[in-house]
Amino acid sequence: MQQKELAGRRRTLMQQMGDGIAIIPTNPHHLRNRDTEFPFRPDSDFFYLTGFAEPEAVAILIPGRPQGEFIVFCRERDPTKETWTGRRAGPEGVIERFGADDAFPIADLDDIMPGLLENRAKVFYSLGADSEFDQRVLGWVNGLRAKVRAGVHVPSEFVDLGHLLHDMRLFKSAAELKVMRRAADISAAAHVRAMRACRPGKMEYEIEAELRHEFIRNGARLPAYEPIVGGGANGCILHYVDNNAVLNDGELLLIDAGCEIDCYAADITRTFPINGRFSPEQTALYELVLDAQLAAIDKVRPGNHWNEPHEAAVRVLTAGLLRLRILKGELTDLIEQGAYRSVYMHRTGHWLGMDVHDVGEYKLGDAWRVFEPGMVTTVEPGLYIAAGTPGVAKKWWNIGIRIEDNVVVTRRGHEVTTGGVPKTVAQIETLMASA
Ligand code: GLY
Ligand code: MN
Ligand code: MN
Repeated sequence: MQQKELAGRRRTLMQQMGDGIAIIPTNPHHLRNRDTEFPFRPDSDFFYLTGFAEPEAVAILIPGRPQGEFIVFCRERDPTKETWTGRRAGPEGVIERFGADDAFPIADLDDIMPGLLENRAKVFYSLGADSEFDQRVLGWVNGLRAKVRAGVHVPSEFVDLGHLLHDMRLFKSAAELKVMRRAADISAAAHVRAMRACRPGKMEYEIEAELRHEFIRNGARLPAYEPIVGGGANGCILHYVDNNAVLNDGELLLIDAGCEIDCYAADITRTFPINGRFSPEQTALYELVLDAQLAAIDKVRPGNHWNEPHEAAVRVLTAGLLRLRILKGELTDLIEQGAYRSVYMHRTGHWLGMDVHDVGEYKLGDAWRVFEPGMVTTVEPGLYIAAGTPGVAKKWWNIGIRIEDNVVVTRRGHEVTTGGVPKTVAQIETLMASA
């Protein structure tokens, strides 16, 4: 992300902070086992404001501070450590390359922070994300109380940083949308590759390998979440990540996978027949989910509210389930009762951005939020008919289907960024037949 854009974000946030101070630590390292770590990924709020991807760093924003408003604490340069674990910007590099007004070694954080907190009225900080760091922040404020008789003002209010920042993150700029389109394109290509590679008798993880290969070879080192590759009955487990079963002839494969580029996620699901041809039952349910998805996508436009896509999907799904005699009763009663929940147990979408389930409120007060240009949502209805689902004929069992696309709200309507993977029955069968 360009420095100009990052500086603009900090400015926008600081304009809303009055005489406050914001404290934004990045993620801690997490141990995987013994001395081996999980891959490091910066905290989204921290990276959104700094573009700085090193661990052990804290950003401070102090609007109106004459000596500088943007301060970063980070690791010092250290030739020995850099030989072992990689290059570091150091405080000098953070000033030079990341636009910090001032930067200090992270080891000096406890010494310097009380002074920066002096005479600021509000502390903008996300309490509760990291209890160890919470204790340090409270310790700095408490330490200041000892100086009250010397005339020092102690911050009197803690404000959730997310309240301001997450509303900013909800609206994606042109530069952010560009990155998200790239993540979407790579993810779409990975799904196409998976469809082409799929054969009865292969293992789910062999298909996962195709997805990951396509991500990484395009520079997306990390998936945005653990890929879900579930054949047959496994497609009915919403967050199935074992990915270690054999793919059976005659069954469907549900793949939910997306990569991350510069900390922006894509989130795509496709479901297709392992042998390349949908059975009549699979076709009936698949086309129902697709109709529901298209109806839901159509509702993503400025002026409509957040729940309209979900309501549209539920209407189409319930009517279709009634038509197929999977549900029995009267349409309006069934919708009112939520009868679909036995086979469709999640919602139709979520905000998408730096976090796959991105930040941003879904309701303002009691009212659903209204779509505005720059918001990005997923649209992902599904049907999951596990074996033994009460009242459902056996011919429908073990069919799990989800179709998920990423949709940007535009001035005139919407843009689907993940259209690079086929999703009609005919398109999928044609692609798989040509592989
Ligand atoms: N991949 C998680 C979701 O679709 O929400
Ligand atoms: Mn999703
Ligand atoms: Mn998904």
